[in-house]
Amino acid sequence: MKSAKQIRNDFFEFFKNHDHKFIRSAPVVPYDDATLLFTNAGMNQFKNIFLNLEQPKVPRAYNSQKVIRVSGKHNDLEEVGKDTYHHTFFEMLGSWSFGDYYKKEAIRWAWELFTDVWNIPKDKLYATVYKNDDEAFNLWLSETDIPRDHVLRFGEKDNFWEMGETGPCGPCSELHIDVGGTEDIHGSDPERGVNTDNPRFMELWNLVFIQNNRDENGKLTELPAKHVDTGAGFERIVAYLQGKTSNYETDLFTPILEHISKLTGVPYHPEDGAAHRVIADHIRMLTFSITDGALPANDGRGYVLRRILRRAARFGRTLGINSAFMHQLVPTVVDIMGDTFPELKERTDYVARVIQSEEESFSKTLDRGIEIFQNLVDETRTQKIDALPGEAVFKLYDTYGFPADLTRLMAEEEGLTVDMDDFEKRMAQQRAKARSAHQFKHQQTSGGDWTEVTTGEHSRFIGYEKTESMVHIRHYQMHNDKMVVVLDETPFYAESGGQIGDTGVIRNDALELKVTDTQKDGDRILHYVEIMRGDFEQINGEPLQALVEAERRQAVKRNHSATHLLHAALRKTLGDHVKQAGSLVAETHLRFDFSHYKKVGEEELKQIENLVNEEIRLNARTSVALKSFDEAQQAGALAFFGEKYGDEVRTVKFGDFSFELCGGTHVDATGDIGSFRITSESAIAAGVRRIEAVTGAGAEALNRRDRDVVQELRHLLNCEVTDLPQRVALLATEKHELEKQVKALQFHQMAASLENLITEAEKVADFKVVSSVIQVSGMDELKDAGSALMDRLGSGVGVLGAVMDGAPYVVCVVSQDLTAKYKLKAGDIVRKLGQQLGGGGGGKPNLATAGGKKPEKLEMVIAGVKSLVEQEVQ
Ligand code: ALA
Repeated sequence: MKSAKQIRNDFFEFFKNHDHKFIRSAPVVPYDDATLLFTNAGMNQFKNIFLNLEQPKVPRAYNSQKVIRVSGKHNDLEEVGKDTYHHTFFEMLGSWSFGDYYKKEAIRWAWELFTDVWNIPKDKLYATVYKNDDEAFNLWLSETDIPRDHVLRFGEKDNFWEMGETGPCGPCSELHIDVGGTEDIHGSDPERGVNTDNPRFMELWNLVFIQNNRDENGKLTELPAKHVDTGAGFERIVAYLQGKTSNYETDLFTPILEHISKLTGVPYHPEDGAAHRVIADHIRMLTFSITDGALPANDGRGYVLRRILRRAARFGRTLGINSAFMHQLVPTVVDIMGDTFPELKERTDYVARVIQSEEESFSKTLDRGIEIFQNLVDETRTQKIDALPGEAVFKLYDTYGFPADLTRLMAEEEGLTVDMDDFEKRMAQQRAKARSAHQFKHQQTSGGDWTEVTTGEHSRFIGYEKTESMVHIRHYQMHNDKMVVVLDETPFYAESGGQIGDTGVIRNDALELKVTDTQKDGDRILHYVEIMRGDFEQINGEPLQALVEAERRQAVKRNHSATHLLHAALRKTLGDHVKQAGSLVAETHLRFDFSHYKKVGEEELKQIENLVNEEIRLNARTSVALKSFDEAQQAGALAFFGEKYGDEVRTVKFGDFSFELCGGTHVDATGDIGSFRITSESAIAAGVRRIEAVTGAGAEALNRRDRDVVQELRHLLNCEVTDLPQRVALLATEKHELEKQVKALQFHQMAASLENLITEAEKVADFKVVSSVIQVSGMDELKDAGSALMDRLGSGVGVLGAVMDGAPYVVCVVSQDLTAKYKLKAGDIVRKLGQQLGGGGGGKPNLATAGGKKPEKLEMVIAGVKSLVEQEVQ
């Protein structure tokens, strides 16, 4: 039997032999496509090539892409576990032609690989084509020896493939297999088996003929070139070739299932193995996505991870395991997949820890959530409705992090439904709010209507060498009230890799454009501009001077280079598990997020800051080199996981201290950074810390501010700088002492006035009644006064009232003998007093408190205590 590894290799060899080039799988977390939560197809990383925004580096490519399908257009989550062949995470074997060959070769090769290399019986295969794609239909007949009646036509739903709501798309042709079994295949009418829910038929390979783009308005346009994009479900193919009826019985999954059985003590039986399957599937998804930089969180992508983890944890509970266990499965996943995806091996420990801490916090949430859920169920039943209101489900989600599908599952167990429409409405409102906050960032021009000014190459970036240059406008467009300009070449850096976009001016005698931001769109560099002088009429082929705001750029450079030094210093101080998880390099400061499991201590921070400053003083020259990705990695350059397939990468090196892949702008030598100062250290998610810092003039300004504060303190306390801490400590101790004395005095005074009150007490039956308004500063003090009165009163009832922050409060004490003899209870008394004060109260039989809203009534209420007590004892 062929192993999964051999099968993957067969695919690779086949396309290599047909002149295709291997291109690494893109990360499952897309870094530069706001339309996607997760990489959902092998073609994602080539989207810009299809849209003609980027030139392909090779005409043909292949790989095995890491894919997650849990949201948006391609969402398989609900199926996972129920059946044996849907996954949240899977591998998609892919091959591509970028404007090179088209349908004929794609069809011929798919057939050849399946039938010659893998010997899949021809009469078990079915090909589908798009309803009016006669070309593909005929090619199946002319290029292959597939049985004639095994080529079927289907409509949009099955045979027109789209990546998402927008983007490249086109008609497709699929290969399906009849895996056999007992189900009827409807005699000679396989059309009623293929693309239905009949489990005998399974889609194995999709050949998409990319020739269209769908825009934001849903309109389809023709692309300038025709491409091939194929994707084959690796796990399904392995299952078939290994003679299994379930993906879970292949060597890609069996070690995970065995490990789950070992941890839970419950063996896997395919008939009722949904829980095992869900956990095995979800742990793969979690391991891959966290490796690629995602983290559980309360919104967006992070929320999907959280939901998946919780879903698996819930299924764990059905197997009798209540404690954190999934993190233990991570090394098993890495054992199976680590050779093909080496990034897994680098982060195994980190991934396991993130999962463990998320599992542990979920355990707590689950307990709290279950309690709240139970109350909800009771309420719903009392109101005699059988659906939990959407508002409640939303609150469980929003405040307690309870995934809606979990709530639904639990509701089902109680025989209730959930108002999902209302819930979805509330979710949509929340999303709309979040979207409008981010709107500007997500606007891409995506090939709208450009007005041509001059022709020729565009967007050559020359900003590494200079910040000033003569340029020409190539084209421009209005985009939501903003004008966007593309130049032939530009010194303006477009935002990427955490570094913000440049600002500045583009001008000549007739026209002055203020550049407010610079962004990338495919291989275009977009300058967002405001017209300061002149108007549209003056936009012509004349040269203009492009001038980057140099001081700002300089500050950004200092912060960017310092970010690299900080990264290296963190690894040297804390260990190699430290990896970049995100960064912001702005003009005023820098922010660096990285994996680490606990707070970075004061001493460690000092050491890190010192290390960076030492490197600054060494004044090492910056060395920048272009290398192939593999060369750079072999030389030990640190790569952030956002890196795409681009063959050549730029490396930035500072002495022997720091070596990273980076496209950003940097100082010429570390000394230019001036100085470096950390301003904060905090946690941003489980296992991820954030450090913020300033450099150069920013660090100086901060030092100056601190010096001014110290000077002021020195004057106020009239001492030397070095004596300041001691002086302040002394003042604090003195203050504490004085407060204690004041308290003791106040208590003494109060006790004396209580004695007076007791002497003047009135009598009801055989006991004393004391009531008075007193001065206190807080509820605790009022209660203390109540207790002190009780200690001194003997047999009696005491009520003390006070107005605090404009509201009336009372405390009531009742001696024990009276509770026994007259059933007098402090709780009952205060309840009545509270009502009179416009509020309420309660407490124990011997001591209770109440509060209200009518301070003006307090005197009267206190004066009425005696008659109230009289009524109570009758
Ligand atoms: N992009 C195509 C798919 O995902 C191959 O099915």
